[in-house]
Amino acid sequence: MNINKKYAIPSPGFQGMRMLTFSFIISFLSLFSTLSLATEREGPYHIRVLWTQNPSKHAVVSWTTSVPTQTATVYFDTQSRDGELAAYAHTANLALTGEITLTEEDLKMEVPKGHYNHAEMKGLKADTRYYFVVESDGKVSDEMYFITAPDSDKEISIFWGGDSRMGAADPRYAGVNPHENRKAMNRLMSDLLAENPNIYALAHGADWGVTADWRHLYWWFHDHELTTTEDGRVLPLIASRGNHDRSIGFEENFWLGEDLPTGQYYYTSQLTPEVALVTLNTEVSITGDQRQWLEKELASLRPNNRWLMVQYHVPAYPAVKDFNATTASRVRNFWVPLFEEYQVDLAAEADGHCLKRTLPIKGGKHDPDGVIYIGEGGLGVPQRDTDNTRWFVQEPGMATSAHHVFLIDFKKDGLRTRAIGMEKEVLDDHMLQPRMVASQE
Ligand SMILES: [Fe+2]
Repeated sequence: MNINKKYAIPSPGFQGMRMLTFSFIISFLSLFSTLSLATEREGPYHIRVLWTQNPSKHAVVSWTTSVPTQTATVYFDTQSRDGELAAYAHTANLALTGEITLTEEDLKMEVPKGHYNHAEMKGLKADTRYYFVVESDGKVSDEMYFITAPDSDKEISIFWGGDSRMGAADPRYAGVNPHENRKAMNRLMSDLLAENPNIYALAHGADWGVTADWRHLYWWFHDHELTTTEDGRVLPLIASRGNHDRSIGFEENFWLGEDLPTGQYYYTSQLTPEVALVTLNTEVSITGDQRQWLEKELASLRPNNRWLMVQYHVPAYPAVKDFNATTASRVRNFWVPLFEEYQVDLAAEADGHCLKRTLPIKGGKHDPDGVIYIGEGGLGVPQRDTDNTRWFVQEPGMATSAHHVFLIDFKKDGLRTRAIGMEKEVLDDHMLQPRMVASQE
């Protein structure tokens, strides 16, 4: 299997003043046990699945190639075919490919050139295993699988997390991958996924890397392979965009299919007929078209879903950063009143690099009928101290500093959010009762 592959550290061959760099690498060796070196890879790699609006019947498959792609096909089936291309019942054509933009800094950081590639699987059956391989110019990937979202009122779980970047780009890390915390969180998700087949996807509250330039996304996609289970189950992604994700590399590598406008990054994922996740984009206007769309969307979703969740990057109720910062204030002024009017059950926010669960909030006050905000990003980014004097994180809310991923269970009788720490410890466990039972006979 290509997945979870570690690369050997080659002989650096440094001379003269480069000995200094060599000594840095030696010190990394003592710091990190699993350094990976950026190397050209043959055939399709960084293979991932994105969910957008209708994950019970549609998925985007994306991958990287080192060389320009001439022809490529995704072969898929509801049974394993062990990579025997002629045996797969379905195919998806390459829909979009191109050279990934490289900046001067990318070249300095010794990241290999790459090409993005995307295909759409359509007409899928709900709640079904799809085994697939990617064939690209004659090279075939290992077979993997994912499970489509249910189209019945099944109780499902998802991961929610954000902020999987580290600190500023550091030239000492040229050509190596220092994201030990992110890798640990990805291994944790793989473990949890293997234990709990009811986890369907990872919704990501953004700030995937320091920037969306290739030297950061390359390693993000590389590390994401660690979330794949030993038996080849891939964790689909539901993507949002953050302030560190503004480069063109985001559009190039996170394509949401032909039905969504390029670069918009706000949409609803209908996870089951009773669970809707609305992804919003804090990096474009909070008002205007997006707010209008949000109002219409929430108005039509609320009566038809037991659980209505939103995710976006910059928090309305930050536990670390300035409460009166521009984007936070705009989210509170223009989106939060809609969350309250349409009784959103849960809002997931990132950006702060901490763990929090607010009190239920309505009209700027603690109110049992209000909205609970969880966050704020712990998928590997260094954690910050929280301001525990803020009223909205007082008990029974909470705020602390810890790497984490949320495991969210959408049950018929409750919405359970558990923040799971890097050692698999439960850092927070909360159950929310349904506000209304929609669409019930
Ligand atoms: Fe951010």
